[in-house]
Amino acid sequence: MNTGESFIINGGNPLVGDVRVSGAKNAVLVQLAALLLADGVSILHNVPDIADVHSMIELLQFFGAQVVFDTQAHVVTVDTTQVAFALPPAAMLTKFRASILITGALLTRFGASFFTAPGGCPIGERPINLHMHAFKSLGADEIIDGERHSIVAPADGLVGALCIFDYPSVGATENALLAAICAKGRTAIYNAALEPEIFDLVNMLRSMGANISYDVPAMIIVEGVERTELAPVNWTVLPDRLEAGTWLYAAAITGGNVLVHDAPIEHMYVVLQQLDQMGHVVEIDEQNGVVRLKGSKKYSAVSCKTMPHPGFPTDLQSPLLALLSCAQGVGKITETVYENRFLAVEPLCTMGAQITMCNSTVTVTGVDDLIGAEVEGKDIRASAALMIAGLRAQGITRVSTGHHLARGYERFVEKAQALGADITVAK
Ligand code: EPZ
Repeated sequence: MNTGESFIINGGNPLVGDVRVSGAKNAVLVQLAALLLADGVSILHNVPDIADVHSMIELLQFFGAQVVFDTQAHVVTVDTTQVAFALPPAAMLTKFRASILITGALLTRFGASFFTAPGGCPIGERPINLHMHAFKSLGADEIIDGERHSIVAPADGLVGALCIFDYPSVGATENALLAAICAKGRTAIYNAALEPEIFDLVNMLRSMGANISYDVPAMIIVEGVERTELAPVNWTVLPDRLEAGTWLYAAAITGGNVLVHDAPIEHMYVVLQQLDQMGHVVEIDEQNGVVRLKGSKKYSAVSCKTMPHPGFPTDLQSPLLALLSCAQGVGKITETVYENRFLAVEPLCTMGAQITMCNSTVTVTGVDDLIGAEVEGKDIRASAALMIAGLRAQGITRVSTGHHLARGYERFVEKAQALGADITVAK
């Protein structure tokens, strides 16, 4: 795992060659938490070697799970036979947002759980009201004792219900699923999130023995089963559409020619269409999950709004902003998911980008080139945006990303170097 804090990039090299996408961070984290639902030894394949996975493993081990992560083979083995309830230190929960997902799994396994405000990227307030709404819909109670919030199921267990979300929250949908799996009777999650990582979780839970189906509009139906009916799984994690998009943008901004392997193409149509509309050459081999991107030296700006899936993903907003910084013309991006997710704007302007911001919309006027500078990445995707901007910029860019890049991208530097990037980890 690359834990480098800063990176030195000598920009200008077109990226050329092959890159393989790792497993999806936003699929594997909740799947690791979900393994607590079954007793025995589960195996996950295609697990990315990223900081957030190690944080989730640490959390599972705190509860007594025996976990082995073969980072070379990308395989995690989890034995939950000895799992017992305990209260983890807040520091373990505030390291990353996905820690909140342990709550639903513990509630199902032990009938009680807890949470302290989870951590994660500083991209907005990131409340957890919808998670609480899901638990309370199933009959749980919230007990507030100072800083610590506990959530307790009724003595005779959670009861299936209609759980209505006023926003299709990914994490709240995942927690609703983990809490509903063994609730008595039927649960209908209404206005559920439809991200690919949700369906990957549902498919894994089904392989565990859960009874889950879908209905319109955006409904996930869970028929509760006994926890003893749930069995350990042998599961392969979905490839990361966000990493795939990031490499496509890196190829595009450097005028390169890159083959992205293991790309989940069926989850990337909006991103791929946009690259084509810009004038880049996008060759898709959906059967083999391979996308070739030949970057055009001069490409057109586009405009878009970030939306829940299948719309344009908020997690590619900052990398797209970097790409638009060198487009021909003016593009606009409206961020509709988070209230503070333009953390790449200031550092990109330091590199010569022409970006203005008005409320939740940024307007970017393309420039011929960016200039290397010292910049800081303040969330996972802003860090990725600055890395690809540095790959294009003239001269040297030093990107300080703290722990953010390593949280979401496996071996970013090694993969970029293999594509011809002049990039090193600062000492
Ligand atoms: C997941 O976060 C992803 N993280 C995020 O990826 C991603 O940006 C997000 O989904 C949207 O796709 C993981 O899966 C670990 P949400 P999550 O609940 O579940 C509001 C990355 O870079 N909201 O769908 O936290 C919230 O404030 C990360 O990989 C409530 O109001 O996202 C936000 O504005 C960043 N109340 C919006 O919903 C709640 O109870 C979307 O949040 C929960 C959320």
